[in-house]
Amino acid sequence: MKIIIDTEENLAKRAAQRYVELIKNKPNAVLGGATGSTPLGLYAELARLCKAGEISFKDVRTFNLDEYVGLDGSHDQSYRYFMNHNLFEHIDIDINNTRVPSGIDTAAAAEYDKEIEAAGGIDLQLLGIGVDGHIGFDEPGTPWDSVTHVVELEQNTREVNSRFFNSIDEVPTHAVTMGIKTIMNARSIILMAIGSSKAEIVKKFIQGPVTTDVPASILQLHPFVEVYLDEKAAALL
Ligand code: F6R
Repeated sequence: MKIIIDTEENLAKRAAQRYVELIKNKPNAVLGGATGSTPLGLYAELARLCKAGEISFKDVRTFNLDEYVGLDGSHDQSYRYFMNHNLFEHIDIDINNTRVPSGIDTAAAAEYDKEIEAAGGIDLQLLGIGVDGHIGFDEPGTPWDSVTHVVELEQNTREVNSRFFNSIDEVPTHAVTMGIKTIMNARSIILMAIGSSKAEIVKKFIQGPVTTDVPASILQLHPFVEVYLDEKAAALL
């Protein structure tokens, strides 16, 4: 595991350079996307680089980690909406080459891993981390061999995410998420964490035991993971 500690602004720039490098070598790379607050700086930087002609997503395909059950892509809290508005509309990607699990047709979740495999597998998966160690919506206790599936969200995750909704009652109770195995199948992974609220879990997942109690701890066993942290998130390492 390679650890990179820098300011939030520099982390976005440095992570974006990994995408520039990857896509230069493999213009039809398959990217794994994440939502949440953490990747916003990176997505803005990728959009800037694309406008400047330094990167092109023309032949890139993407698969997002997760989606809320019950929200379709026109709902402003759906992850499809998030991706369109924060990244896809600002880069030269073909929207038909972008996939987000369906929150409506949840039976399609069973095909998601096969679709990823048919696309050649994910070259670079982006992850954030929840304060309970979740990656995607794989909460503590998720089996290591899980593939894309429907999950019930932890109360804590719903509370944390309620900041984007009018009230906690509006936060969906379930989500579709790539499984731990789906994520571990990616050829390389970038996990980003920003801010002091992540400091404890960052220490646990990097320096603690590999345990399903801390889903992100499995990344210790992946051959190519880079962890991008600001100084606050890295404070307890
Ligand atoms: C989002 C996702 C989640 C978030 C995590 C951190 O697609 O899969 O695991 O990465 O909840 O969220 P933020 O970045 O908002 O702190």
